[in-house]
Amino acid sequence: MQFIRFSDLCANGQATGQRVFIRADLNVPQNDAGEITEDTRIRASIPAIQMALDAGAAVMVTSHLGRPTEGEFKPEDSLAPVAARMGELMGRNIPVVANWVDGVSVEPGQLVMLENCRLNVGEKKNKPELAAKLGQLCDIFVHDAFGTAHRAEGSTYGIAETAPIACAGPLLAAEMDAIGKALAAPKRPLIAIVAGSKVSTKLTILQALAKNVDGLIVG
Ligand code: 3PG
Repeated sequence: MQFIRFSDLCANGQATGQRVFIRADLNVPQNDAGEITEDTRIRASIPAIQMALDAGAAVMVTSHLGRPTEGEFKPEDSLAPVAARMGELMGRNIPVVANWVDGVSVEPGQLVMLENCRLNVGEKKNKPELAAKLGQLCDIFVHDAFGTAHRAEGSTYGIAETAPIACAGPLLAAEMDAIGKALAAPKRPLIAIVAGSKVSTKLTILQALAKNVDGLIVG
C-alpha cells in the first residue's frame, strides 16, 4: 500500500522545526474516580510523539476520550489524566491546552496535549469550517489513531484533507502494512475473524472486508 510515512519525513529532515499535529487514540478506560485502569494506548502512542520530538518538531497531540457532547466541556471528558500518565512515562510535563481550534502556541522541542477533540463543534460530522481550521494549525498531520481510523471525523479525516502534508504514524503504518500483506496475495481460502465491541458502527468495514475474503467470522 502506498502512503506517506511520518518516519520517512523525520528521516529526511522534513519535520524539523515544523508544527506537527498527531491524532492518537488515547481513549483509555477509567474507573469512577477517573483513574486510568489500562494504559496500553498511551504507551503505544509514545513512539510517534518521540519521533516528532527527536526530529525537532513543535508537537501537538490530541485524541477523543469517550463520546462527549460537542461544545459542552465536563471535567470527566478531559484528557488531563491521560497527559499526566503520558508525562510520567515520558519523564516530562505535558501541558493540556483547551479551546485550541483557533490557534496553538507551541515551539520546536515542545509537546502539548490538545483537549478532547470531540468537544470541538463539528468534529463528529466533519464540518468543513472545523476541518479548515484544523488544517491551519499544522504543517504536518500525523494520523496514528488506528482504533478510530474508521470514523470520518474532523480530527481523523477533515484535517487530512486540509493540512499541507498528511501522513501515517508508526502505529497506523504497521496496521496498513499488515492489512496490505494479508489482502494483497493471500493463500485461499481466506477467513477473517473480526472481534471487538460496537459492531453496529463497523458494518461498512465488514462489508468491504467481505468482498475480499472467503469467510468472515464476527465475534
Ligand atoms: C475505541 O475505543 O473503540 C476507539 O477509541 C474508538 O472509539 P469510538 O467508538 O468512540 O469512536
